[in-house]
Amino acid sequence: MCGIVGYVGDNNAQDFLISGLKRLEYRGYDSAGIVTINDDGKATLIRAKGKISNLEERLARKKRDDKIGIGHTRWATHGEPSEANAHPHRAGKLYLVHNGIIENYKELKEHLKEHEFKSETDSEVLAALINSFYGDGKYPLANAVVQALKLAKGTYGIAVISEDNPNEIVVARSGSPLVIGIGDGATLIASDASALVGHTKRAIYLNDGEVARVTKNSVDIKTLNAEPVSAKVEEIETNLAAIQKGGYEHFLLKEIMEQPESLMETLRGRVNIKDGTVRLGGPGLSEAELRKIKHLIIVGCGTAYHAGLLAAYYIEKFTPEITVEVVIASEYRYRQAYVPEDSVALIVSQSGETADTLACLREIKKQGVKTIGIVNAIGSTIAREVDGGTYVHVGPEISVASTKAFTSQVIAMVMFGLTIAEAKGVRNTIIRPYVEEIFKLPNEIREVLGAYQNTIKMEAKKYAEYEHAIYLGRDTAYPTAMEGALKLKEVSYIDANAYAFGELKHGPLALIDDRFFVMAFLPKGELYEKAVSNTQEVLARGGHVIAVTNEDSFDLPVENVIKITTSMEIFTPILMNLISQLFAYYVTVAKGLNVDQPRNLAKSVTVE
Ligand code: F6R
Repeated sequence: MCGIVGYVGDNNAQDFLISGLKRLEYRGYDSAGIVTINDDGKATLIRAKGKISNLEERLARKKRDDKIGIGHTRWATHGEPSEANAHPHRAGKLYLVHNGIIENYKELKEHLKEHEFKSETDSEVLAALINSFYGDGKYPLANAVVQALKLAKGTYGIAVISEDNPNEIVVARSGSPLVIGIGDGATLIASDASALVGHTKRAIYLNDGEVARVTKNSVDIKTLNAEPVSAKVEEIETNLAAIQKGGYEHFLLKEIMEQPESLMETLRGRVNIKDGTVRLGGPGLSEAELRKIKHLIIVGCGTAYHAGLLAAYYIEKFTPEITVEVVIASEYRYRQAYVPEDSVALIVSQSGETADTLACLREIKKQGVKTIGIVNAIGSTIAREVDGGTYVHVGPEISVASTKAFTSQVIAMVMFGLTIAEAKGVRNTIIRPYVEEIFKLPNEIREVLGAYQNTIKMEAKKYAEYEHAIYLGRDTAYPTAMEGALKLKEVSYIDANAYAFGELKHGPLALIDDRFFVMAFLPKGELYEKAVSNTQEVLARGGHVIAVTNEDSFDLPVENVIKITTSMEIFTPILMNLISQLFAYYVTVAKGLNVDQPRNLAKSVTVE
């Protein structure tokens, strides 16, 4: 989604803006732009459709040594991707970059007849509105911004500069993140701390409803009601290595391969293998509160939703006294759902900024239900608004397709479930096998990735020509199939759908023909034989089946079989998901597509 950067300081602003925008590229965008202003108030505005490399080509002819500027990567919401719609937008002597959506922009536009609109965006309306208060520049810029924001409805993270005063940037946020980096002889602005890494480790995360006037060595924050806010300076934990490819061709492969380490980070200090117990400090619930829980609601979108579905299967198995409901955030936020007493909501989000998930969090909080975040991005909005939480600590996930976050989200939720089970007095003989497998999981992941990467690389090529795929599983392998299908479709554009094996006969079996390949997940266990029978039904209809199993005796005449050797009994589906991740990656590489930034998608979906 859209990204914002800003710079005011002693050095070249264009250099920081371009490098910062490149850091934000992973979020997905379709145009980009920067504006800088020199000491005499002369602005240099450069915008381009498409990649930042297009912007750099234009920049080569407009190199400036200006010391202040703002920049933006745009992911189109109002108006097509084009140079005119790209930010920064100009109104009078002001330039603005904006993330989010101004919902009442049409109504506001009606009153802004003086301004000659050059774009179709809601953001230009906001620029014009601020300018209508700013007038000839005698009114302080921050005050003009506040007046305008009081009229704007919707979400925003903005940065504004003026030709009149090339020493200050005014920033504000409501529902769209903004971070202020405290540098040496410079103050930096970004919508995502990753743009600041390598420049400073100190940052202030702006809260909703706050406006800041920023100069090279000062940050003055107020609320929209002019109350002063004392800024809390926090440390940025990310390092440069975490946001670089580290020798891999793509971030997606790097993030798949680093799962042994990223899961270790999720587990660090939380698993007591001697006692066979887990400890999560973050949720902040007492033993008595944990014991009282009768119902869990798990809220997320996309991969985070699938992680919730998988975790729910596990939690139900070892905590008989509670019910678990997993909901899609964009649906749940508009349902008239009654949340039963003694519920706790798990709010699952890698980015911590997903608009629908955030909206659910706020709705659920209104009902007085305790909310626990299962979040990756430290300091993100969801992480700050939940009542308690467990960071998954997988480090920055740069590739648009989520991989390492999924694995850790599932395990973090299972650990939360185990904490409830312990408090409710579930026997240690039931809990211990889960804890032991969780403890062994990073190593098992390492072995599976090492053992199957090359095989999958070879096999995946054969499937790059297909246009349709079906993923099948049952029980814990069903969410695994759903996540596998999502991964394949989002990066390779193969139309992939997942079904519970048992649902085949109720419709989807009609689809099976030569245009489809079928990925069947068959973990050992109670339902293995049933899944084998279902696979036979597919084979009988001429389906091209790839079977993924850990059952040695599997001998159906499928086109391909990936037999996983593992000592895991409970978490085999997580290992199977690694196969799906690698498979999606290698199919996409074989098709020559943009692996890390699939078309039409954004990493952090901050609009509805
Ligand atoms: C799929 C994917 C998305 C996200 C979803 C939620 O690979 O990345 O489906 O999982 O947009 O994002 P977060 O977890 O940031 O709330």
